Amino acid sequence: MSSLAELAFQARSALRWSMPAFKRLASIDEARAACPAPARFDALAARYELTAWSRCCALQDWAESLYVLDVLDRLLPTPLPPGRALDVGAKNGAMLPGLVTAVARGCDAVELDAHRRYLWGSTRRVYGEAMARAFPECRFISGDVRALEGPWALVTWWLPFLTPAPLEAWGLPARFLAPRELLEHVVERLVPGGVLFVVNQGEAEAGVQQQLFEALGLPARSLGRIESPLSPFRLPRVGWLLTR
Ligand SMILES: C[S@@+](CC[C@H](N)C(=O)[O-])C[C@H]1O[C@@H](n2cnc3c(N)ncnc32)[C@H](O)[C@@H]1O
Repeated sequence: MSSLAELAFQARSALRWSMPAFKRLASIDEARAACPAPARFDALAARYELTAWSRCCALQDWAESLYVLDVLDRLLPTPLPPGRALDVGAKNGAMLPGLVTAVARGCDAVELDAHRRYLWGSTRRVYGEAMARAFPECRFISGDVRALEGPWALVTWWLPFLTPAPLEAWGLPARFLAPRELLEHVVERLVPGGVLFVVNQGEAEAGVQQQLFEALGLPARSLGRIESPLSPFRLPRVGWLLTR
């Protein structure tokens, strides 16, 4: 299984050509109509500029980015030090509008498996790059976060791989399971006063995350369960904050 995953990863990483990013963009009115919590939508729309999202977001992107904006709006410490932000494991960039809007600064979004292809022939990369182009000073980077040097004032990390099962479920080779090395790499590249924000899926995974912080002597603060009226996700989530 693992060698199959390796072969498949090598193949898609070599075949980088992509169809364009086909997407049915959704207007702010359509996004509000589809939103599970219109009152929270209105509060966020009053506080942040969301109109640019309709130039780059399909309804699914709106849902994921509204969730990100809702959570970061409530849970990030302010002010953040000057500097760029990074999202690790950015998939197809669907969460980037939420991050950029929350922190109002240049953002990087890095994705290891960026050449993964949809049925219609487009890769995550072209979606991520199109999303990054919609915002000033933003980049979608195809590759391993360990190849990046930063520095960053904020790193967001939604659902890092900490155990073999989720990595296998996402079809990635076992050699990419390196939670300790990845965490050390990212934390070392935070500016002084910089913030790491991590979200895990479920209490068991959060327990593994806690052990990892402790093993590295990192004084992360548990945020407990992350609730959001805008969450499109079914499983419970648990958050952490670390300030360097
Ligand atoms: C469980 S998924 C979470 C995706 C997204 N953050 C979310 O919350 O929906 C983990 C993501 O991290 C990416 N990833 C894993 N290891 C990585 C690495 N070393 N550098 C960059 N991205 C990585 C995976 O390819 C995958 O897209």
